[in-house]
Parts: sequence; C-alpha cells; structure tokens
Amino acid sequence: MAKAVAAAYIAGMDSTLAKIDQFLAALDASVADGSFVRLALRMPCGADETLKSIDVKPATIRDQLKLSFTFHHQTRDLTQNHPPAGAIGQLRKLVEKDFRQAFLYTTAFDLSYDAQGKSPRLKQSAATSKAAATLSHDREKTRSIKAEGTPWLTALGVTGADGQVLKASGDKFRQINRYVEILGPLLKAIPAERLHKVVDMGAGKGYLTFAVADYLKQVLHRPTEVVGVEFRPDLVAFCNETADETGTDNLSFAQGTIESFDSTGADALIALHACDTATDDAIAKGIAAGSELIVVAPCCHKQIRREMETSNHPNALDFVTRHGIFLERQAEMVTDAMRAMILEHFGYSTKVFEFVSDVHTPKNVLIVATKTKRGKDAGALKKLAEAKEFFGIRRHYLEGAVGLSSLSP
Ligand SMILES: C[S@@+](CC[C@H](N)C(=O)[O-])C[C@H]1O[C@@H](n2cnc3c(N)ncnc32)[C@H](O)[C@@H]1O
Repeated sequence: MAKAVAAAYIAGMDSTLAKIDQFLAALDASVADGSFVRLALRMPCGADETLKSIDVKPATIRDQLKLSFTFHHQTRDLTQNHPPAGAIGQLRKLVEKDFRQAFLYTTAFDLSYDAQGKSPRLKQSAATSKAAATLSHDREKTRSIKAEGTPWLTALGVTGADGQVLKASGDKFRQINRYVEILGPLLKAIPAERLHKVVDMGAGKGYLTFAVADYLKQVLHRPTEVVGVEFRPDLVAFCNETADETGTDNLSFAQGTIESFDSTGADALIALHACDTATDDAIAKGIAAGSELIVVAPCCHKQIRREMETSNHPNALDFVTRHGIFLERQAEMVTDAMRAMILEHFGYSTKVFEFVSDVHTPKNVLIVATKTKRGKDAGALKKLAEAKEFFGIRRHYLEGAVGLSSLSP
C-alpha cells in the first residue's frame, strides 16, 4: 500500500516536474523565436511572505537580450535582469517552490500552469497578445543611461545595489539622461575618424564624464577616449578608481587646472558648471585645439557682473540693472551671448538653450558650438565691440584667454 502511495506520489512529482519542464520549454522556445511577450507568476506560496507576484518581460540591455524580472513585494518593487538561460533556471525554482500559478504570453499562444489542485494543469489557449514585445523600443531606450546594469551609477551613489535610482538622486539621474540625450546626437554627428578624444573640463565627481564615456562605448560603439580634467585630487583619485572598478576602460581623469591642461587633440570639449571664468578657459582650450564641438553649461557669471557694476558708463538699461536680481540675470545673458560671439568669430555656429527645467537647477543654459566649414564670422567682433561699448564692459575674460585682448575699447 505504502509502495503504491509512494509510486503515486513519485508519479505526481514526475507529472509536476514534467509540466514545469513543458511550461519552461515553451518559454525557452518563444524567447528563441522572438514570440515571447511576457510571463506572470501569481498565487505566492513561498517562504518570503512579502513577495506577492513577479512579472517577466524581454528587454535589450546594452545590445544583449535579457529577461527582466520585476519582483512585486508588499511595499516595493525590485528588478533583476538575467540572460535567458539563467532566467529559466531561476524561474524553475520559483515555479517549483514559490508560486502556484504561472502564465506565459506569446504571440502564438497563451499557456498557463496551475498547481492549485491535486495535480498541476497546463492549459494552452489563443494568444491574447498579437504583437511581440517591442525590443526595438527597448533598444531606443538604452540610448539613454539605464539605471539598472550600470555599475558606475551605483559607485557614484545615483543608484542602489538593486539598480534602482536612489530617492535623493532622481534629479541627478534625469540631468544625466537629458544631457546624454542632447550630447549624444552631437557626438554621433562627428565622423568616427574625427572623434578620437573628448575632454570634460571641471569634471567634478564625474557623473557626466562617465555618461559620455558610457554612451560612446555602449551605444555608438566607438573607441573614443574620454578624459575628465579636475582640480581636486580626491575626486580625480575616486573617479579613476571607479572607472577601473566598473570596467569603464575608455575613461580617465587628469588632475590639474583647466588653464594648464594641454588640450591638443581634443576633438570635442565639454565643461558643465565650471565656475565663472573657468568656463572661458575651457572654451579657449577648445578653440585652441580646433575642437569640432564645444559644449558648455556656464555656472556663475561674476566677471561680467563686476564689469557692469563698476562701469561708470550710463546705458539705456540702467533702470533694469539697478535691481540686483536683474543685474545678475543681465550679466548672465551678456556673458554667454558674448561667449557665443567670440566662438562665432572663430568659425563656430552656436546655439544657446535651456537643457533642463529650471525646477531642477537654475544653471540650465547650454552653449553648443559646432565648428563649421564657413570659417570665421567677420561681423562677430564688430558686434562684440558694440555690445561692450553699450554695457560699459572693458573686457570679457574670454577675449584675453583666446588672445583677443587688443580688442577691448
Ligand atoms: C560645479 S562642479 C561641476 C562638476 C561637473 N562638471 C558636473 O556638472 O557635474 C565644478 C567642478 O569644476 C572644478 N573646477 C573649477 N574650476 C576649475 C579649474 N580652473 N580647473 C580644474 N577644475 C576646476 C571644481 O573643482 C569642481 O569639481
């Protein structure tokens, strides 16, 4: 009798395992032929009482097909991405021990596994999803920096060990992505044979430097070298260690000042929020190197503000600039508009625009200068001289930095 019970039990086990095998084989085949849409695990019965359900979908991450698991816990969701073979191993354990129901959705059929009764049942039905999961859409999304599977974001404290963006770092993460969204197409537009090196001046903790290196390597698949220049030795040491530890092998950081950095060979030069005239030094280094692309997000604008404050030259805007806040805003606009004119003098086309909402940071203006074949803009210096005259500005720091000091009135 006991033997019969045992045999029935073993047969039951066999049938359970066989059904799980069939279910997973169907998943495996649908992943292989691209018809896999999604998978859901329901009716939890495992040891972890906080785990309520799991959803799995395909995703292309860094050009690799992965199965992306979302573990829905009582109070939070956790995500893990696995290569298909590893994912199927993990699903086997979950279906055997932790969930009574599993649903597979493919474009060809739906398949459910239900272990609520005495013996588990497999049921196939017509497909509820006619379209395959849009992997091309996922590929598009990987053009920006992904929170998950990006170890440098974790090392820099933007994401936690689980690959989720930390609460306090949401703005930084959005800023990084927005920045890559803008810079990516500009870098892509430079032919690979003319983009050997990108230099980031005043790299700080390296958020945006890492983002550029990641984009060039993982998305554009270019061997372009990225160098961050930073004055603070502690940040340089930290960033170099992080680059090493995270396998970001196209990136290094150099300790020193922007002014003393040899920018020869910098095909693209960027400087985000380098303080006051450090932005001018960065622009000057880009012009000296003949960089194809110069992108700066200016920070404070003290030099021109001082010039305007100390000017005895009356101008028609005095009624505006007698208010401190308007003087500050005027100084910002005048400083950056003059930078644009000087860049145009050196043969760059310029665009000035806001790159993130001022809700996230007031330092949100970007000057983008691309070297054009048209050569120097002859009228730019004339306009610059007129503007200086109007505002009573004796010199713009950038003039001296690029050897134009003789133009000061
Ligand atoms: C406001 S942080 C910006 C960091 C980074 N670019 C970003 O946007 O996240 C400015 C960084 O530039 C560095 N810096 C400022 N002036 C510099 C100079 N003249 N030479 C080198 N680094 C400088 C500072 O030490 C600081 O780390």
